Amino acid sequence: MRLLAIETSCDETAAAVMHDAQLLANTIATQEIHQLYGGVVPELASRAHVQRLVPIVNLALSQAQMAPTDIDAVAVTYGPGLIGSLLVGVSFAKALALQLGVPLLGVNHMEGHLFSTNLKPAGPEPPFLSLIVSGGHTILTHVRAWGQYEILGQTQDDAAGEAFDKVAKILGLAYPGGPAVEKLAATGNPRAIEFPQARLKNNAGALDQRFAFSFSGLKTAVLYYARKLSAAELEKQKADVAASFQFALINALVDNVASAHAQFPTRAVALAGGVACNKTLRQAFMKLSAQRGFQLHFPEPIFCTDNAAMIARAAQFHLANGKRSPLTLAPDPGLALA
Ligand code: KG4
Ligand code: ZN
Repeated sequence: MRLLAIETSCDETAAAVMHDAQLLANTIATQEIHQLYGGVVPELASRAHVQRLVPIVNLALSQAQMAPTDIDAVAVTYGPGLIGSLLVGVSFAKALALQLGVPLLGVNHMEGHLFSTNLKPAGPEPPFLSLIVSGGHTILTHVRAWGQYEILGQTQDDAAGEAFDKVAKILGLAYPGGPAVEKLAATGNPRAIEFPQARLKNNAGALDQRFAFSFSGLKTAVLYYARKLSAAELEKQKADVAASFQFALINALVDNVASAHAQFPTRAVALAGGVACNKTLRQAFMKLSAQRGFQLHFPEPIFCTDNAAMIARAAQFHLANGKRSPLTLAPDPGLALA
């Protein structure tokens, strides 16, 4: 099957072409405009998708050496995400599927992230635990089988990537903040400042919050710490603040996954989402994988951040199982994973 997949849930306009298991093209246009505002501006994101989607799809098709009429199915992210951004991709995908007379499939963006570790051979096979850490989500899932997801914990406030972005802003670094904080942290001392790590009660009453996360307290602690310093002193301590913040955030993620793995001792654990690009985070999880004896999987950085290849991979699974979406498919900004 030759599949075209489209992803426009936030600020990346992306398309991918997959022929059976082979990824033939993966094109992404990152919207730099949001850097001016230090975060994604929804209205600007949708407008940029309108301008970029057709060129990005054409680029993917030409890289795959295909014409639109060679496509057997169209897959598109229909949630969760920004309503205006989702609408652009979904409307385009519906029109294209109708024009070509091929099946349409709406894909859950978070399920796309779950499949991102399986874009290469020898990815994790269920049951496994997956930690998705992105700008919009922090979600720990027990993947019982493909299509059967049990949420073990989510963030109760800020997402991990959001905390990186906000701390970057406090430190005067560029958006997106994750890569900038990571770079600065590499020159700082992670034990210089003891930032608080949220300790949430293991809430067995709410099954999807048994291993919940919280990062707003950590972010506020960084803010208060920075406010107490003069501009010159903050400049001097910047690297230590970045390193100590990153250390506390990663420890919170590692501790929660360790507790969840004690209860669900799966053979594999997977990391996905933009924050999974972070090398210090990868090293911390490698250490945990050696301690607890699980196989650790994470995608290449290009497949950690939002992309359409992961949407194609998830779609491939569902199309093979006969799933199709009607042409009345509507975006669902609050779509849940399970
Ligand atoms: O998965 P993604 O592209 O978009 C969402 O679905 O949200 O993730 C983007 C997030 C941003 O918050 C960005 O700061 C963060 O991932 N990020 C990182 C790194 N690279 C990207 N965070 C920490 N370290 C990194 N190297
Ligand atoms: Zn994402």
